[in-house]
Amino acid sequence: MPSEGSLDVKFGVLTGGGDCPGLNGVIRAVVTRGTTAYGHEFVGLRDGWKGPLEGLTMPLDVEVVRNILPVGGTILGSSRTNPYKIDSGPARVQEQMARLGLDALVAIGGEDTLGVAKKLHDDGVQVVGVPKTIDNDLGATDFTFGFDTAVNIATEAIDRLHTTADSHHRVLVCEVMGRHAGWIALHSGMAGSASVILIPEQPFDIDSVCDYVQQSYAKGHAPIVVTSEGAVPKEGTLSVKGGDLDAFGHVRLSGMGQLLEGEIEKRTGRETRSTVLGHIQRGGSPTAFDRVLSTRFGLAAIEAAADGAWGTMVALRGTDIVRVSLSEATAELKLVPPELYAQAGVFFG
Ligand code: F6P
Repeated sequence: MPSEGSLDVKFGVLTGGGDCPGLNGVIRAVVTRGTTAYGHEFVGLRDGWKGPLEGLTMPLDVEVVRNILPVGGTILGSSRTNPYKIDSGPARVQEQMARLGLDALVAIGGEDTLGVAKKLHDDGVQVVGVPKTIDNDLGATDFTFGFDTAVNIATEAIDRLHTTADSHHRVLVCEVMGRHAGWIALHSGMAGSASVILIPEQPFDIDSVCDYVQQSYAKGHAPIVVTSEGAVPKEGTLSVKGGDLDAFGHVRLSGMGQLLEGEIEKRTGRETRSTVLGHIQRGGSPTAFDRVLSTRFGLAAIEAAADGAWGTMVALRGTDIVRVSLSEATAELKLVPPELYAQAGVFFG
């Protein structure tokens, strides 16, 4: 394919934060389009921001990315390393970029990774961002890739929980990821006909949860309770234990499913079990939707770089891919609005 321009920029590409199905789709699109259309060169930066901090690299060319679209995870590796929490971290990133001859970065990540990208851009680094997260909680984009895959995995799990719950007339609690946003719980719970869905945005009352459980039995169904890992009880109704913090100050969430299992069984007298889907939601091959979205994001990121739109992130608005500033991208989390939760609530019980 003829080169559309000879900008010949040398890019470092990195994936940061929790991995997510579709990361390899972005890497493939960025490298393929950048090489064939613009004659760019690419270097893989390993393990998130640790790569540019410590100069950890791998070769990245059209041959390396040829067959990676359906592959889960990230060929570059990932981490939650935060250069701004490390002595001279940002300066070290710039030194390593100079040593490697990198002109610019493509940073693929969620609010933390893109928050670092924004600060580096403020410090003069040429960077474009691509949003990723299974949590779907980035404010500036309608959807992130990885979310659809996670929702499909969780929905399949809920379908399976229904049959075993019905066979044993048990309550089954299914804890899903999503951190402080309830998107995965809302979508998988709706798709999987949950008896009640608990999300961080709507603090729950354990008595109402138990009422829904009993209503479900009264209708002849064994109830499925889908809870976000970050669901919160109404103040003073239940005590929840705290977890460790990561380098970005996020608490490690765990235990909501187990807590509900004990409380529901104690309060309703119904035998209850809980399942934590955990990292199963993040592993494995991306859905077709996520393969297409990640590819479109990768292509758009290279066009943004070709236009010199540094400091921007590509985003999905409706069916269009647009550019937003990294400041806007990282300004606020996208949470589940009450009206969407109310729609799901029509089917509770
Ligand atoms: O942000 C993605 C996510 O999977 C969250 O849903 C979850 O809380 C967190 O990452 C888990 O992080 P780790 O893989 O570091 O345990």
